[in-house]
Amino acid sequence: MKRVAIILPTYNESKNIEKLIGEIFNQQKKLKNWQLHVLVVDSNSPDGTSNLVKKTQSRYDNLHLLKTEKEGLGKAYIAGFTYVVNHLSPTVIFEMDADFSHSPSDIPFFLKEIEKGSDFVIGARYIKGGSIPKDWALHRKMFSIFGNLIVRFGLMKLSVTDWTSGFRAIKTWIVKDIAPQLSEYSGYVFQVALLDKAIKKGAKVAEIPIHFLDRKHGVSKINSFQYIIQTLFYVLTKSSFIKYVVVGLTGAVLDFGISYFLIEKLHWYLWIATLLSAECAIISNFLFNNFWSFSHKKIDSKFSLYVNKFLKFNTISAGALGIQAGGIELAGFLFGRKYWYIYKVLIIAFVIIPYSYILYNKVVWKEKK
Ligand code: GDD
Ligand code: MN
Repeated sequence: MKRVAIILPTYNESKNIEKLIGEIFNQQKKLKNWQLHVLVVDSNSPDGTSNLVKKTQSRYDNLHLLKTEKEGLGKAYIAGFTYVVNHLSPTVIFEMDADFSHSPSDIPFFLKEIEKGSDFVIGARYIKGGSIPKDWALHRKMFSIFGNLIVRFGLMKLSVTDWTSGFRAIKTWIVKDIAPQLSEYSGYVFQVALLDKAIKKGAKVAEIPIHFLDRKHGVSKINSFQYIIQTLFYVLTKSSFIKYVVVGLTGAVLDFGISYFLIEKLHWYLWIATLLSAECAIISNFLFNNFWSFSHKKIDSKFSLYVNKFLKFNTISAGALGIQAGGIELAGFLFGRKYWYIYKVLIIAFVIIPYSYILYNKVVWKEKK
């Protein structure tokens, strides 16, 4: 039987922990191919959570306890990951809240998804069949929904709807690969970073619906302000989409600057200056995108491959130019030439940026499998 390690991080969960452990091990009877192990990672809870776990260990052979300092949820999970990888060699590792917000009876559904071939299964609240508590105050709902949308669109990984969910089943190879890169994310932002890096490693992600329930005992430990700031910072600095837009802007400035110099100072023909400056911008965009925006899927350093990808990049850029020229002519014909600059901005924002981003990802910087 393959092993599953369920990590429960706890800080003051004495009212929940024993009952939760019991309900998790109760799921074992539904599972033929999997052997459940539970690891409680307790950060020195003053309410005696760890003593209760120790007491409960006499009832369950597969119940493990790790005590850590209180350094945040991310740190607790990293310590838990290291422990289960070294001591239990599981095939799958779960993340799960220890306050009954996540239902143990969902565990078999995660494992079914793993059996179907997924590497990273998310318990998702915003897909059909999932939910957040109806009685949450409006600000809490907004916080959760908008937070997720910002991450989803900021990182431009639209297929995942629930980035911040803390109920997940992850294949161990992903955890082993990625955990060493996560030590800087000590708080709740750790969840976003782990998923983002897993996708970059080529993990096959699936979502299953869950009903997120409000805790009945104890209090939440989330520091919302810190969480928002750290998540925004993560998205702004790690998003290949945002970097790609920044590269596009630098390209536009370079294009304009070279044109200006060649036309105003050297008095070149307009068309030659335009061609040359546009090509310089294309080359610089290609290099910056390769070494910065898409550095996680950098082109292999073989020269012929470089040339091949660069030609593709050039073709896509030429296509963008064609779309822009055609679009602006059409809009001018339909709505009058006077507002050409508005058409230009709209076409770039809503057509060219998505068009190029999608093609760069599909043709030039393909996901490594
Ligand atoms: N060991 C340890 N150390 N555990 C911790 C710490 C810590 O510093 N901080 C929180 N926990 C444990 C809690 O005891 C609980 O079992 C679990 O982590 C989740 O913490 P809550 O305090 O209940 O978080 P929440 O309900 O406000 O946050 C929910 O939303 C987050 C963002 O969407 C949870 O579902 C999180 O998992 C989720 O990331
Ligand atoms: Mn909670």
